[in-house]
Amino acid sequence: MDAVEILKLIKGRRSVRRFTEKKVSPEALRTLIESAVWAPSGSNAQAWEFVVLESFEDKGLMDRLTPFLPGLSETPPAMIWLCVDMEKEKAKAGKLGVEVMGIMDISMAAQNIMLLAHGMGMATCAIRGFNEDVVRLALELPEHISPELLLVLGYPKEPGVAPARPPVEQNIHWCKFGNKSSV
Ligand SMILES: Cc1cc2nc3c(=O)[nH]c(=O)nc-3n(C[C@H](O)[C@H](O)[C@H](O)COP(=O)(O)O)c2cc1C
Repeated sequence: MDAVEILKLIKGRRSVRRFTEKKVSPEALRTLIESAVWAPSGSNAQAWEFVVLESFEDKGLMDRLTPFLPGLSETPPAMIWLCVDMEKEKAKAGKLGVEVMGIMDISMAAQNIMLLAHGMGMATCAIRGFNEDVVRLALELPEHISPELLLVLGYPKEPGVAPARPPVEQNIHWCKFGNKSSV
């Protein structure tokens, strides 16, 4: 895949919140997690954990969680809960790791998952507006495992609509903030 195709893949990914009935296979989910653990991580902490729910086994649990998820009206075929192991993060990267880098790390892992899922014909949506207590209880998370982001995924019922992005020039600052000229 050349750079043009990679950019096309990146621009083609959309947040989708409604999916077909088609299930996501455990093999596909495993491949997505494989992409996640190849993300970079601060201090190479790799302090991430992924709790995967799929509709083969976990439909009841997903049905119970979905009403607590902002933006979602239907239970998705699969969920990946991206968590940070705060003990591991602290041991590897200290205060900066716990307060900042762990979240950055799982964000990078999330983007790997979202792009690969898109390349595999699936769609995803990142969700952060969940109730942490509900999630902790439902997933039986130990105290040191912090749920930071949810990815819902499946095969899209409809193509997502791309929210407009401003021209790239608007957000580029050459050398100093506000400098719009590269020469
Ligand atoms: C960190 C993060 C949190 C998000 N949380 C939610 C959420 O709670 N509910 C939701 O419906 N969408 C959520 N989204 C999806 C955004 O609304 C979406 O990415 C944005 O509108 C841009 O659309 P696009 O992903 O199709 O480019 C979240 C996205 C990110 C990156």
